[in-house]
Amino acid sequence: MSQIRGRFKKEPDESVLAYSASIQYDRRLYPYDIAGSIIHATMLAKQGIITEDEAGLIVGGLTEIAKEISQGKFRFKVELEDIHMNIEARLIEKIGDVGKKLHTARSRNDQVVLDMKLFAKDAIVHSIAYILELQGTLVNLASAHKDTIIPGYTHLQRAQPVLLAHHFLAYFEMLGRDIERFQDCLDRVDVLPLGSGALAGVAYNIARQFVAKELGFRRISQNSMDAVADRDFIIEYEACASLCMMHLSRLAEEIVLWSSSEFDFVELDDAYTTGSSIMPQKKNPDVAELARGKTGRVYGNLMALLTTMKGLPLAYNRDMQEDKEGFFDTVDTLMATLEVFNGMLSTLRVKTDKTTSAGRQSYMLATDMADYLVKKGVAFRTAHAAIGKLVCYAIKNDKGLSELTLKEYQKFSPAFKKDVYKITAESSITARDNTGGTAYKQVMRQITAAKKNLKESSNDE
Ligand code: ARG
Repeated sequence: MSQIRGRFKKEPDESVLAYSASIQYDRRLYPYDIAGSIIHATMLAKQGIITEDEAGLIVGGLTEIAKEISQGKFRFKVELEDIHMNIEARLIEKIGDVGKKLHTARSRNDQVVLDMKLFAKDAIVHSIAYILELQGTLVNLASAHKDTIIPGYTHLQRAQPVLLAHHFLAYFEMLGRDIERFQDCLDRVDVLPLGSGALAGVAYNIARQFVAKELGFRRISQNSMDAVADRDFIIEYEACASLCMMHLSRLAEEIVLWSSSEFDFVELDDAYTTGSSIMPQKKNPDVAELARGKTGRVYGNLMALLTTMKGLPLAYNRDMQEDKEGFFDTVDTLMATLEVFNGMLSTLRVKTDKTTSAGRQSYMLATDMADYLVKKGVAFRTAHAAIGKLVCYAIKNDKGLSELTLKEYQKFSPAFKKDVYKITAESSITARDNTGGTAYKQVMRQITAAKKNLKESSNDE
């Protein structure tokens, strides 16, 4: 730290060093820090603030430092606090006093937010790519199960038969919104903060547009105080990740349920399950459970940063160093979850005999029976009441609806005719033929659209 302690008579206490250092975790920002510094030095030379030779030495030194770090040869020092000071100190060690010119027209305050933005932009691009992959797996599952019937639930009670493809595609839609949110977030991250200095801007003739272009930012910040005090983009990423994890946790819960003996709809591949240390028969859906569980920590990171930022006066405050661990953890957790989910789902075996026999349970056709009576001229409420009584009768007599005789049907409404037996799970599904419905035709259309969508996204990349 001594390089910035001119005004002090003492070095910081050991406990302060340990308490304030972030190098243990912010070292992963090094590629971004170095990329930012290289462009900053290049710009300083272009503007005549340092000479081309000086910039050349700085860029050379930084390039070597990047290599040292990537090869594990760099010695990080806690007493140098963070990645920025570690790299700068090493640069000075390597190239001498010229290295001391790098930090001209820059502050760690605009430097750190630059690094975090560059990191965030990469994280968003990768998150979107992983979500797209999972969407691809869901579409494959949907294609494989475009005729597989499964009960659809509300209140976790069997409600109406649906196609399993329709169920999988519901998650495709959720993930599609997640992608849109990340893209939207990317647009706001894409604003260059460098050039804001500590908070007030810098007193040199810098070239911000040049730096923005070189570093791949679409816009430059318009207020230096906001730029160094802004952590919205991290909160936004964490909010997008929270929503995405929430979606994955719902799917996780369904996998947990479906793989239980009670449902018995799916079997997870051995590679994606674990055993019990005591019960030899167990095959546990730990991946799904962990995804459900990790959703909590992703929400926690979001809450933590919102709380850290709450009430902070302008501009930079050291509190903001607390943005990092939660952010890195959220990025790592989301990516790992998406990756393992992709494997778990692409190896999932659906027990179609089980889903189909559950999906054919006749009580789920009650709505269709009411619709049938409506088509025979009965008012919907009257039909609903009649079918309610019919179901009650069937349950009492331990019969499925399709096992009732026409005479029995007619006790509940004279409108029943022989064609009532044409009501099946398949006819129920076929009938729901509006956009967004589970009809075979509609689901095929959704699959085709989803495939086209994915193809366009992969062409965009
Ligand atoms: N390690 C600091 C952080 O992550 C870098 C910025 C330090 N700025 C300062 N004025 N102390 O926020």
